This record gives sequence, structure tokens and C-alpha cells, in this order.
Amino acid sequence: MRVIVVKSPQEMGKEAAAIIADGMCSKPHYVLGLATGSTPVPLYNELKRMHKEDGLDFSTTVSFNLDEYIALPATHDQSYRCFIDEHLFDDINIVKGNTHVPDGMTDDIETHCMIYEAMIEDVGGIDCQVLGIGGNGHIGFNEPGSSLASRTRAVDLTPETIRDNARFFKSADEVPKRAISMGIGTVLEAEKILLLATGANKAKAVAAALEGPVCIKVPASGLQLHPDVTYVITEDAASQLTLRYRS
Ligand code: PGA
Repeated sequence: MRVIVVKSPQEMGKEAAAIIADGMCSKPHYVLGLATGSTPVPLYNELKRMHKEDGLDFSTTVSFNLDEYIALPATHDQSYRCFIDEHLFDDINIVKGNTHVPDGMTDDIETHCMIYEAMIEDVGGIDCQVLGIGGNGHIGFNEPGSSLASRTRAVDLTPETIRDNARFFKSADEVPKRAISMGIGTVLEAEKILLLATGANKAKAVAAALEGPVCIKVPASGLQLHPDVTYVITEDAASQLTLRYRS
């Protein structure tokens, strides 16, 4: 486990983008696992800058997003497809056909999830999976209680997550109650995992994930089982850590 503690979200974005750019340069057809939420935005801003100013090339990159709300059309401004288009894809040279986000409007969720997993396998797996972390320790929409072996599937959001996400909607009533999420088992198969966290409100979850027992109460604790995880976190998000880490 590597833990890189930085002073600001911007610095976190630069550190994380440098790790991804390194990977992209070492392997054509790099496969990125992407997350939504406010945390990865500085990373996406830096990747866009590197594309524009340094010529970072996404033309052969393939991507899979972690999750999507169920029953929210991709055209809705709060859909995760819309988010990732707007915050990243529209400003880089990725081929839209190489980008994948679960379809929250599918009428056969189970088959769709199986196909999503098969598509990841077909391209040889995810090279680098970007993750945020919920205040309750969730990764993707794998809420507390999710099996560490879980695969892509439909999940119910906890009241806490609905409350957290209500800031993006007119009211909590409008937040979808279900989502499709890659499973923790799916995430653990990525070659490399990059977990990002900013803000004091994430400090407890970060400490539980890194220093607590591996348990389904804290889904991110499952990452302790993976051989190549890097946390890039701000000082406030790291404030409840007690151990020394390699950076
Ligand atoms: P946030 O969400 O980046 O908006 O804080 C992270 C998450 O819930 O996984």
C-alpha cells in the first residue's frame, strides 16, 4: 500500500495524473477504470491539461466507468455518462466508442451487467482503476454490506449516500435509489488501483479502510487484499491515520 499525502486537491490531481500518464506511455490500448463524484475532478482537469499542452494521447485508450444510476437517462445532466463526458471525454481525444458506462436504462439489468464484465475481460482487464471513497467507506456504489467478491450488479443506495448526493439534485427525493455498480471483486481484478480522497469528511473512512480490519462494513477495506494500491489523499483526509506508509 502506497500512501501519498498532498497539500491540495490540485496537487492530488497532478500526482494521480502523472501515475496514469506513466502507465499510458508504457502500454498501448491502456484500459482506465473511471469514477465520478467531485473528488476526481482535479485529476480529470490535469489529464485534460496534459492532453492539450503536453500531447498526452488518448486515441487508443479504453475506459469503463464504475457505476451509473438506474432509471436516469444518459442525457440527464446528473447521469454519470453526462458527468464523465463533460468533465473528461469532451476535452480529450478518446474515441467515444471506446468509453463504457453502465446503462441505467437497460430493461435487462442482469444481462447488461454480465456483458459489462465480459467487455472488461475481452480487453484484458482494467490497467488502472480510479476510485473515490464515500464517507461511509463505499467504493463505486458498493455500500457497507457488499460482498468483497461482488461483481457488477444492481445495488440499493443507502440513505447516507442519497443524502450525500442530494446536493447535485433539486431535492433528496429526486436522487435515484438504485444504481448499477461494478463489484468489489471486479475492482480488485484491476492491475493497479488509485484511490483519491480530499476533505476532513473522508478522514474516518480513509483510516478505517487503511488501518481497520478487512470487513464488509467498510467496503474500501477490501483494497488491503490488492497488491498495487496507491492512495493519493490530502492532509485533511489523512488526518486520522496513525501508521507510517511508503509514499
Ligand atoms: P465524492 O464522492 O467524490 O463526490 O465525495 C465519492 C464517492 O462517494 O465515492
